[in-house]
Amino acid sequence: MELIKTIDQMRSWTESQRQAGKTIGFVPTMGYLHEAHLSLVEKARAQNDTVVMSIFVNPMQFGPQEDFATYPRDLDRDCRLAEGAGVDVIFHPEPGEIYPQYPPLTAVEVKGITECLCGKSRPGHFTGVATVVLKLFNIVQPHRAYFGQKDYQQLLVIRQMVADLNLPVIIEPVPIKREEDGLAMSSRNAYLSPAERQEALALSQALQMCKNMYSNGELRVSLLIEAMKARILQEPSAVIDYIEIRHATTLAPLTEITGPAVVALAVRIGKTRLIDNLLLEGN
Ligand code: PAJ
Repeated sequence: MELIKTIDQMRSWTESQRQAGKTIGFVPTMGYLHEAHLSLVEKARAQNDTVVMSIFVNPMQFGPQEDFATYPRDLDRDCRLAEGAGVDVIFHPEPGEIYPQYPPLTAVEVKGITECLCGKSRPGHFTGVATVVLKLFNIVQPHRAYFGQKDYQQLLVIRQMVADLNLPVIIEPVPIKREEDGLAMSSRNAYLSPAERQEALALSQALQMCKNMYSNGELRVSLLIEAMKARILQEPSAVIDYIEIRHATTLAPLTEITGPAVVALAVRIGKTRLIDNLLLEGN
């Protein structure tokens, strides 16, 4: 496995692969890898000749009060895990390589689907995500790129950007990967104390409860949300950022589930903000 730190070297590698007729699968990450990241790699491996993973903690997608400085980092461990999973190249640029001028004067703003859910409590977050992902696409020039459904709104934002800007890359979604007890895997789970780790189960349990109620015929959004809220608030350190049910592709608000819907929530457990979601197919 190769570790590449500059844009020039990354571009020459891509050019040589493309000249040899090889397809490139790309897995963008912020590192501190866990099994979910590796499940993205697994899908990329199966569909491409080569796999590039980027590890870059992107300052542009963190708010001023957020955890950019303390976001967990462990490059040596990440390299071992990535190599074991079959990654060919890790692209790990310094912030100054990606942003010679910070903030950049050009940014990608996706409208309509970024004002709600995580976009509401994290203004500018999706502009930071879309901008860095476009830059990474332009540097790595992959055939396919892999995004987890755990960050459901992010996946929609990237799909919208690719469609609107005619980017020559296929976006492949990957299902949410969970711990055995249901907690969605996340690099931020490392922040949780043992007691908080237990409380964090409320997120996936609330979603599961919503799914059961829905399967039993409850289609009224307000009732489903009330039930989830009650479950989450059983935990002493839980503070709800949002619990919402919206149209699965437009993210339009719903009062009744009549078609594909996403149940999405963000909850603070102590100082750690966690997100999770669930897709309902509609009747
Ligand atoms: P990061 O949080 O490191 O996640 C990298 C990728 O792994 C994302 O596509 C995310 O959705 C996916 N992922 C994380 N946890 C997952 C889980 N439990 N199940 C399935 N997929 C999961 O998302 C980012 O980094 C950044 O915003 C990035 C796209 C790299 C841009 O900076």
